[in-house]
Amino acid sequence: MIVVAGLRKSLRTGGATVEILKGIDFRVGRGEFVAIMGASGSGKSTLLGLLAGLDDPTAGTVALNGTVISNMPEDRLAQLRGRTIGFVFQSYQLIPTLTALENVLLPYELNEDAGEQKAGLERARQLLQSVGLGARMDHYPVQLSGGEQQRVALARAFILRPPIVLADEPTGNLDTVNGQHILELLLHLNHVEGTTLVLVTHDPALAQHAGRRITLRDGLVVGDEVQAGGVRVDG
Ligand SMILES: Nc1ncnc2c1ncn2[C@@H]1O[C@H](COP(=O)(O)OP(=O)(O)OP(=O)(O)O)[C@@H](O)[C@H]1O
Ligand SMILES: [Mg+2]
Repeated sequence: MIVVAGLRKSLRTGGATVEILKGIDFRVGRGEFVAIMGASGSGKSTLLGLLAGLDDPTAGTVALNGTVISNMPEDRLAQLRGRTIGFVFQSYQLIPTLTALENVLLPYELNEDAGEQKAGLERARQLLQSVGLGARMDHYPVQLSGGEQQRVALARAFILRPPIVLADEPTGNLDTVNGQHILELLLHLNHVEGTTLVLVTHDPALAQHAGRRITLRDGLVVGDEVQAGGVRVDG
């Protein structure tokens, strides 16, 4: 589902070149649930951005579902990304002028007929219920706490039933109870809809539920372990 080969990312800052990712290789199978761990600054968010095609690598490639997305023209990439990936940013990125419900429905706005719109609205409501925001659907982001905004961002990532969901610290701002809710939602979607999940997390309790754990250090993979009780892989 995801094939990462020889992936490198360097940035030039003030004359010096900083190597952020130094050659990363791995594959993620359909329906797999992978946790990416590593110290702050090890390159996790950078890697996730490259997997989503939000950024281009300095060298190497990312392929999603057999299509190499690295250096693809932006219009084609945007189309493919819309169909294939749900992304949860570390910084949520909700639209401030839209309510929680409207934010979740945003990926729907561009396509679909009236019938589908209705189904989308129903699904958006269900997703917000399942992240514990049933009573907050008509609130704007400024009226929501950080953890609540994070949960809206999660619901939005799943609205179009993407085959791949990439999430950066999806429980980073949540207490135990809400973190547990999110975990259950993720496991449910992984199970029932076969969503391939790649999650960046510092939370060992969350990572433990993944079928596999990839550990980064200083821009390199230093660990790639299958975990007992892991999630099925179809290929
Ligand atoms: N635009 C940029 N310019 C310069 N350096 C950057 C830039 N973006 C990221 N970096 C550096 O790249 C390294 C990796 O950053 P990244 O955000 O991928 O880390 P991370 O593993 O996600 O950390 P955290 O757990 O704190 O979110 C860091 O040292 C960071 O300072
Ligand atoms: Mg990060």
